[in-house]
Order: sequence, then C-alpha cells, then structure tokens
Amino acid sequence: MTLQEKFNELEQKNSALLATNFYNFETVTGILQAVKTLGMPIILQASPSTIDYLGVNMTVALARSSLEKHEVEGWLHLDHAHSFSLIQQCLDAGFDSVMIDASEKSFEENVEITSKVTELAKNYGANVEAELGYVAKLGQAQQKEDGFTKPEEAKKFEEQTGINALAVAIGSAHGFYTSEPKLDLDRLQEIDNVTECALVLHGGSGIPKNQVQEGIRRGIRKINVATEIKDIFMSTLQADLRDNDEIDLRKVFPPAIHKVDELVQSKLMIIKSLHN
Ligand code: 13P
Repeated sequence: MTLQEKFNELEQKNSALLATNFYNFETVTGILQAVKTLGMPIILQASPSTIDYLGVNMTVALARSSLEKHEVEGWLHLDHAHSFSLIQQCLDAGFDSVMIDASEKSFEENVEITSKVTELAKNYGANVEAELGYVAKLGQAQQKEDGFTKPEEAKKFEEQTGINALAVAIGSAHGFYTSEPKLDLDRLQEIDNVTECALVLHGGSGIPKNQVQEGIRRGIRKINVATEIKDIFMSTLQADLRDNDEIDLRKVFPPAIHKVDELVQSKLMIIKSLHN
C-alpha cells in the first residue's frame, strides 16, 4: 500500500500515523520494537542531517532492512528538505515520501518550489508533504498567531501544488516546550473542512495526549516526534555510562533502545486508545 493510500484509509477511520525520526541502528530498533509489540504501522523519517550522517543509501538500507526484520508495515519519509537535489537523490534511492519545506518563503515562492517537487514525485509515485504557515524550528520561540496557517490559503496552496500532505502551523513548535502548548484546534478544523490532503502535526514532542487526540479527530493524519526520542536515548546512555567502564558497546546500548521502545509505545497508544 502506498502512503497516499494509507492516508485515504486513515481519513475514513479518522485515525493517524506516528512519524518518528531515527538516527542510527539503535533508535530505529527501539522504534520498531514498539511498533511490532503494538502491531501498528509507522512512518520512519530521516532529516537532511541524518542523511548527512548515514548517507542516503545507508539510510534507505537501514530503514528497509529494519522494517523487514521486525515484519512491520512502514514507510520511509524525508523530513524538512530544502534542496531539490536532495529530494531527487532520496526519491532515486527509494524513499516513499518527501517533505519540501519552503515555509520561510512567500506564498507564491512556496507554491512554485513545492509544485516542482510534486511534478518530480509523480514519476516515482511518491507522497509529497509541504508546509504552509510557519512551525518554529529547534531553539526558536513558539510562533505567534500571525504565522499560523490560514484555511483559505491552505485550500489555494493544495489546489495549486497537488500536495498529498500539509504541515500546518497551529501552535506547535519543534523541540521542547517552555510552557504547555495550546493547539488552535478550531483553526485546524477549518483547514480540514476546506482541504483534502493529510494534515501533519509537527513538533509532536511534549504535546499533551488530549490535544493530540482532539487534533486527530479534527483532521491530523500524521504526528511527528523527534526530540523526545533523541532525549530519552541520550539521557539513558549518559546515566548508564557515568560510572561504567564497559568497552563492549553492544552491552551499552540495549537499555537506551529499551527506553526508546517504551516512549514510542506510549506515543502509539495515544493513537490506538482513540479507537478503543
Ligand atoms: P519534535 O522534535 O518537537 O518532536 O518535532 C518533530 C518534527 O516535527 C520533525 O519534523
């Protein structure tokens, strides 16, 4: 099943996919252990920095062989790409889905850049996500309402670009929150009423469960989580290594992998428990 088909299915069921960023063998393993335990599908996503680190072919090989090993349903997505050539490389290497992030450009430029990507992606049958409005990046202050996605612009943007998925700015931000976020759920509903594409919630780390669930009820089909995965993995590792002189690195990673597994299970349960 393509990711576009999966989004259509989720639209009928009023449900969503969790999209987790992975960085190495250990994080992808923790994520997929959770996915396997709960029998749910997943989007594995890699950012340009992860691709810089692993290389594009290694990223694809690691994701694909891990999905096969754990026998779970999943798709590989490129998160926040700004460069057309990286998108082309990823599509050639076998990514199922790409995000073109031209959210810092004007509406017209965003349409132009995104349209080039949707044209290209047609040749691969790939899913395309774009961003309209602005979701604050790591370390930036949370966006004020004037940066939020406007429903009428979202409708025009979708019509003009032919995207499959749209990251909406409704009060979430990448990284940890300094105070509890409050999603603009009415705005989300209005965007969903006038668009057909799958709506994406970026900055999923730290958003309270009830807001994520209400977001799904109002049209969110993909929930991105990255920061909490990095944080739990590294803090577990740091604590374990503090008084530890183990040099067999295969013995050092499993507790951190286990913590990622637990975290991802808790995120998947937010989706699963909506329908129970
Ligand atoms: P967090 O890092 O805040 O979880 O956001 C993830 C994300 O949106 C990746 O695109």
